[in-house]
Amino acid sequence: MNNILKLTRPDDWHIHLRDGKALKQTVKDAARTFGRAIVMPNLIPPIKNAQQATCYQQRILNECPNNSQFQPLMTLYLTDNTSSNDIKIAKESGNIYAAKLYPAGATTNSDSGVTSLTAIYPTLATMADYGLPLLVHGEITRPDIDIYDREKYFIDEQLNQLVKEFPNLKIVLEHITTKEAIDFVLEAPVNIAATITAHHLLYNRNDMLVGGIRPHYYCLPIMKRNSHQQALIKAAISGNPKFFLGTDSAPHPQFKKEASCGCAGCYTAYAAIELYTEAFDRANALDKLENFASYFGPNFYGLPANQDTITLVRRNWQAPYTIPFGDEQLIPLRAGEIIQWQCLNENTHE
Ligand code: DOR
Ligand code: ZN
Repeated sequence: MNNILKLTRPDDWHIHLRDGKALKQTVKDAARTFGRAIVMPNLIPPIKNAQQATCYQQRILNECPNNSQFQPLMTLYLTDNTSSNDIKIAKESGNIYAAKLYPAGATTNSDSGVTSLTAIYPTLATMADYGLPLLVHGEITRPDIDIYDREKYFIDEQLNQLVKEFPNLKIVLEHITTKEAIDFVLEAPVNIAATITAHHLLYNRNDMLVGGIRPHYYCLPIMKRNSHQQALIKAAISGNPKFFLGTDSAPHPQFKKEASCGCAGCYTAYAAIELYTEAFDRANALDKLENFASYFGPNFYGLPANQDTITLVRRNWQAPYTIPFGDEQLIPLRAGEIIQWQCLNENTHE
């Protein structure tokens, strides 16, 4: 049995750090093990241009622990009004690594999102020309579509068309949750990839709903049935470079999750690489973790892998019950429960 695991330092290709006082904790947690992170732009108001992204990046850097070389990779939030010029400026800034498509109303802070994909086709054409990846929250928002089918319908009704229209556009289907999404990515050309979260590898909707509603498992896209979870595990451990690590760690204060209308998001950043390690270990695929966590992401984005390493040991530890979150606190995924792996060299980029 493998009890110690050395990995090239991983990156997180999808994280929510929020802003203001929240950054102290979220940045510390991300910088603990990850070299870089693709930072989601769904703030209130959203990050819509290069200038806002650069200011936000500075606020994140201000919170980086002294001995970390954590690099926040910034993204733009696409709206109906994002212009080709916005994309050009973003790309030329050298600071922006992608633009995020939130279909309006699909998830947390997506009210300013895109209402019609065709309306932003000229912007997407510019992204394809400049090689700026499109990150997609792949859920249709029509009220007649069942929440469990939103991803599948998005692929059928929008993504297929988009890929045909822009054959050169790099697209990441973010936090995939279904067999249909996996099949779509497998059949698509090499410029189409997907991120997979730790929570979708470790849990399914039974964990969220059987025996009582557990709001801290509620995220979007919502966890699906077990057969989809198994398909995700198979994709993650397949060694196919189209699937790589993106935590979608999404903090919310406890009172907003434990509410009559609780918001979506699981906080995993405090133990992200450990949770992924557990998922790969359970699937007897620890040897597949390093490519998934440390190589396939940078390869897709055209960046070099990190130079240093982290070391994980098989050792039980208890996850905290609560974590500070600005003036509030949050309940992390796995709160108070045992996590089976632990990263040794925390915060020590060599
Ligand atoms: O569960 C989620 N939380 N899914 C998202 O797409 C957004 C995120 C958030 O920002 O809280
Ligand atoms: Zn997200």
